[in-house]
Amino acid sequence: MTSTHERATGETVSFGFQSVPEEARQGLVNEVFSSVAGRYDLMNDLMSGGLHRLWKDDLIGCLAPPRSERAFHLLDVAGGTGDVTLNALRASGPGSRVTLLDISPEMVEVGRRRVAEAGLSERVTFTIANAEALPFADRSFDAYTIAFGIRNVTHIDVALREAYRVLKIGGRFLCLEFSEVQVPILDRLYDFHSFEVIPRLGQAIAGEDVPYRYLVESIRKFPNQERFAAMVREAGFERVSYRNLTGGVAAIHSGWKL
Ligand SMILES: C[S@@+](CC[C@H](N)C(=O)[O-])C[C@H]1O[C@@H](n2cnc3c(N)ncnc32)[C@H](O)[C@@H]1O
Repeated sequence: MTSTHERATGETVSFGFQSVPEEARQGLVNEVFSSVAGRYDLMNDLMSGGLHRLWKDDLIGCLAPPRSERAFHLLDVAGGTGDVTLNALRASGPGSRVTLLDISPEMVEVGRRRVAEAGLSERVTFTIANAEALPFADRSFDAYTIAFGIRNVTHIDVALREAYRVLKIGGRFLCLEFSEVQVPILDRLYDFHSFEVIPRLGQAIAGEDVPYRYLVESIRKFPNQERFAAMVREAGFERVSYRNLTGGVAAIHSGWKL
């Protein structure tokens, strides 16, 4: 397994639209999420007009966890405040459990509270770790989800290889992420919303615009649908496909470990 440290080259990488030393990037990402954790759910609803809820429903539809008592173990990476974890459990039978992994203790704390409020604590394990170095044995999980998380990871290729390693044979990788808008007028509206509305909303509601600028800029730096599908294939996944949501504002990529 390749660790982040082995990959540090002293080069610069993108953090939103800035270039920063590779080894500094994850710390900056962590500052963003620790500072927004308490307001993350509210801002998510405001910034996406609630659309993220529909996209997450689509993700759970693709996951289709068993409704029976059959054992099913999902790893929800970059699980944050727990939306995907909660939705997956609500859609599944009593044999399903989830490991929610995230690098930010502050985001996990919010997730832990929400899971407890839903009375689902017994079926969820929380792990604070980096998606690039998963602290699990090979072939441990039936499915892996990552929603709006992968673009925050410094070495996406390393995280994808880790996803492949921890999945059982027959396991499924599903990634929900912002993507490239495919509809001509929608792309201009989306630009306006991203660069004019979101940072102002962040400033007005959260009192700061930097984290929200990073969120918008990091979306633009993320590979488009085809390029990301190629990366998923390179990690070893088969039958790789994707589905655009809301004209490509977001996409769900799927791959199987066969
Ligand atoms: C935009 S939030 C998404 C949270 C949740 N999945 C959702 O859809 O609401 C991104 C999450 O990725 C986490 N994250 C960032 N870099 C990470 C890494 N290298 N490994 C694991 N989690 C990471 C952040 O702490 C944050 O909770």
